[in-house]
Amino acid sequence: MNAHSDHPITTAETLSDSTIQSFRTNGFVHIPSVLTPEEVAYFHDAAVSASERMTNLAAGYAKDIFTQNVNVWRVDEPVKQLTLHPNLASIARRLAGIPLRIWHDHILIKKPHNNAATEFHQDGPYWPHDNHKHSLSAWVALVDVPVERGCMTFIPGTQHLTDLRPQNLADSDDLFVVAPHLMWEPRVTIPLKAGDCTFHHSYAAHMATPNFTDVARVAHVIIYMDGDTRFNGAAHVITDPLHLTPGDSLDQDIFPLV
Ligand code: SIN
Ligand code: NI
Repeated sequence: MNAHSDHPITTAETLSDSTIQSFRTNGFVHIPSVLTPEEVAYFHDAAVSASERMTNLAAGYAKDIFTQNVNVWRVDEPVKQLTLHPNLASIARRLAGIPLRIWHDHILIKKPHNNAATEFHQDGPYWPHDNHKHSLSAWVALVDVPVERGCMTFIPGTQHLTDLRPQNLADSDDLFVVAPHLMWEPRVTIPLKAGDCTFHHSYAAHMATPNFTDVARVAHVIIYMDGDTRFNGAAHVITDPLHLTPGDSLDQDIFPLV
């Protein structure tokens, strides 16, 4: 059972200046009601069904934390509608303030009672990107996600820390090993109703709480990168099959402008 907020659908046109400012100051923002209840039901069922058919990339590195299916939009027509959803893309462009491409999507499901947090990390250090200053993710709740089901927590202002090494999202200490002062920073936890989303900058430090409930936590995450992002030569599951050369533009068909 999902609670639908009374909030009207948020669009790029109805985004307030203070919401945009809050994203730019803090590195994350809560956007209520980006999908209608009908879309939530349709995309929830599509995401669960696609996830059941696809390889779980987290089996090797985060098996208790979540299942992870990457670039679902490339193989599943309904999920493609969500990943390329014009409302989400328009909001992302307004928050970032620049042209954006899809980097990849992923479906992240925390099983009922997984009892495991996604530990603090930044996303940007995982990616083989140069020249990406504004990359950001839309984390879309396809079920109600109260704190007890695995919602996101952020450390405001950390989007400015762009030179840390990648952090292990299965290790609760790792971010604080590389940036000890962050242990003492305030954190903001954002429960979401189904159809809400958060946007976070690629360097905003975040974690997700464990799922202590009887219901699977189903999130669809759409990652947008700067339109002129370049490949930096590092290994990554998305770019490895493309045999790119460092410095190449990431402008191939699998990275469409949105
Ligand atoms: C999660 O949903 O569990 C983590 C998402 C993220 O790290 O971006
Ligand atoms: Ni992350």
